[in-house]
Amino acid sequence: MKLFVALLAVGLPALAAAHSWIVCTDYLENNGWYWNEAKCRAWPRNAGQYNLRYRQFGTGGSFVHRLDNHPEELPLCNDPRDDANSYNDVHPMAAYYLGQTVVLTHPTNNHVSDSSCRRNHWQGDTENLMFVVDGDEDPCCIDSDKLIQIFDMGVSPYGDEYSDEVLRTYPKVGFQNAPKFCEDPEDAMGTYNFTIPMDLKPGRHTFVWKWIRIPSVNPFTTCWEADVFATKAERDAYYIATGRTTEDMWDFYQVNNIVDGVIVDPAVDPIISG
Ligand SMILES: *[C@@H]1O[C@H](CO)[C@@H](O)[C@H](O)[C@H]1NC(C)=O
Repeated sequence: MKLFVALLAVGLPALAAAHSWIVCTDYLENNGWYWNEAKCRAWPRNAGQYNLRYRQFGTGGSFVHRLDNHPEELPLCNDPRDDANSYNDVHPMAAYYLGQTVVLTHPTNNHVSDSSCRRNHWQGDTENLMFVVDGDEDPCCIDSDKLIQIFDMGVSPYGDEYSDEVLRTYPKVGFQNAPKFCEDPEDAMGTYNFTIPMDLKPGRHTFVWKWIRIPSVNPFTTCWEADVFATKAERDAYYIATGRTTEDMWDFYQVNNIVDGVIVDPAVDPIISG
């Protein structure tokens, strides 16, 4: 019994720290420092059930999806597709337009090789991809040919071949783009951006994020739906009708003047100025 308790105590934090998932599917700030739910316009499947909006960022509940070592057998999505019940007024579905740059947020869960606070630089990053699903049904599995890759979000630098300077500099490509990682390695926010392809057929699609941290750990995935419009004007009309801002995403490093890691003369946050 004692041994069992000891194993639990050691094993559970390790498990809790080993995951990530997409929290927001249409975030207003690219490369940002801190999560703010007011900057999130749209959410993944069943975000309401997991209270993604109001829970502390990075705490997962059960909203994680890691495929086990049968990638050809396990369903791609944590929750099966159910558009009528997976979204609500507090956690609405995304709407995108062709050519849009979309910002996603995710918790870091310790997986960043940032030299400011980590002497070990071997937190790996192997693959960060975006897919759309061909058709209306959830694909069987991660190896399905119904997954169409639309964007490669790159891989973060890690390992001893990179200088400390590179490993503490943001923005970064890939998973480890979390400038405030060292303040809260477990729950810090990372952001990605991807572009909606110009040749995507307008209409509703399922989008899938896939992250491979290291090859020996199987992929993590998050699934969500979005209505894709041909033009920004159409997307804007839809967001206005559903009570959301039509602002395009801004870049944290373009609206703020950062000197020696400190914001000087901060620009007015566009979400507040309206
Ligand atoms: C958007 O993401 C791509 C791919 O990761 C990256 O190369 C690019 O720098 C990002 N853009 C900005 C403005 O951060």
